[in-house]
Amino acid sequence: MKNIYFLGGGNMCAALLSRLKNNGDFALFVAEQNEERQAFLRQAFDITVENALPALTADDILLLAVKPQDMQNALQSVQTNGALVLSIAAGLSCGTLSGWLNGTRRIVRIMPNTPAQIGMGMAGLFADTAVSADDKSLAQTIMNAVGKTVWVANEDDLHTITAISGSGPAYVFYLMNALFQAACDLGMPQDKARQSVLQTFIGSAQLAEQSGEDFGELQRKVTSKGGTTAAALAVFENAQTDKIIQQAVMACQNRSIEMGKQMG
Ligand SMILES: NC(=O)c1ccc[n+]([C@@H]2O[C@H](COP(=O)([O-])OP(=O)(O)OC[C@H]3O[C@@H](n4cnc5c(N)ncnc54)[C@H](OP(=O)(O)O)[C@@H]3O)[C@@H](O)[C@H]2O)c1
Repeated sequence: MKNIYFLGGGNMCAALLSRLKNNGDFALFVAEQNEERQAFLRQAFDITVENALPALTADDILLLAVKPQDMQNALQSVQTNGALVLSIAAGLSCGTLSGWLNGTRRIVRIMPNTPAQIGMGMAGLFADTAVSADDKSLAQTIMNAVGKTVWVANEDDLHTITAISGSGPAYVFYLMNALFQAACDLGMPQDKARQSVLQTFIGSAQLAEQSGEDFGELQRKVTSKGGTTAAALAVFENAQTDKIIQQAVMACQNRSIEMGKQMG
C-alpha cells in the first residue's frame, strides 16, 4: 500500500480524497493549516489530518495542492527524501518546484479542471526527468480516480492543456449561459430553459462519445440543407465564430505562458 500525503486540504484535495478513500491501494494523509478545514476533512473522510507533513520516505507520494502563491512558503520546511512529488498547482514549473524542494526531479506536473470535483475531470500530465514508468502509472491511477488523463511530452504543452481543458469548462458555461439567456428572451420559463440547455449539452457530449464520430460529421448530421439548424449555423459562420474561439484559446495560452514566467 502506498501513502499519499496531501499538502493543502482544499477543494481539489477533497475531490481526490472522496474518490481515493475506498481504493485499498492508498493510505491517505493531509497536511492542512486551517483548523475548521481540518475538522471538516477528518469528519468527511475519517483520515489523519495534521498541521504539517510527517517525515517522508522514497516510497511515499507527496501531492502538492495549495494555491501557487502559497507554495514556496508551504514547502519551506518540507524534505521530500526522494518521495514522488505530484503537483496540481497551476503555473509552477518543475524547475521552480525543484528549486524549492532541494533539487528533486521526481516530479509530475498535473493540470486538472473543475469537473474533477464530480469525478468527470480532464487532466494533462507531464513527467520530469527522474520520473519512472512506475511513477507515471501511479500518477495516472491517482488522477484517473477523478476523471481522464493525457500525458504531454513537453512541459510547455501544459499551456495548451490549460487553454483547452483547464479553462474549457468556463467556455462551455459561457455557451450554456448564452443559450439559456436566448431561451428566456424567447419567453421560456427559467427552470425549463435551464433543463433544456443542460440536457442538450449532456446529450450531445454523450452522443459524440458513444458514436465516436468526428464533431464536424455529427454537426452535419443534424443540419439539413435549407432547414432550421442550417439557418442558425449560417449566423455562426458569418460571424466566423470558429475563428473567435481559436483567438480565445490563443489568448488563454498566451496568458498561461505570461503567468508562468511571472511565477518564475
Ligand atoms: N480547483 C480546481 O479545479 C483546480 C483546477 C486546476 C488547478 N488547481 C490547482 O489546485 C491547487 C489547489 O486548488 P484548490 O482549489 O483545492 O485550493 P484551495 O481550496 O484554496 O485549497 C488549498 C488549501 O491549502 C491550505 N494551505 C495553504 N497553505 C498551506 C500550508 N502551508 N500548509 C498546509 N495547508 C495550507 C489552504 O488553507 P487557507 O485557506 O487557510 O489558505 C487551503 O485550505 C491550486 O494550486 C490550484 O492552482 C485547482
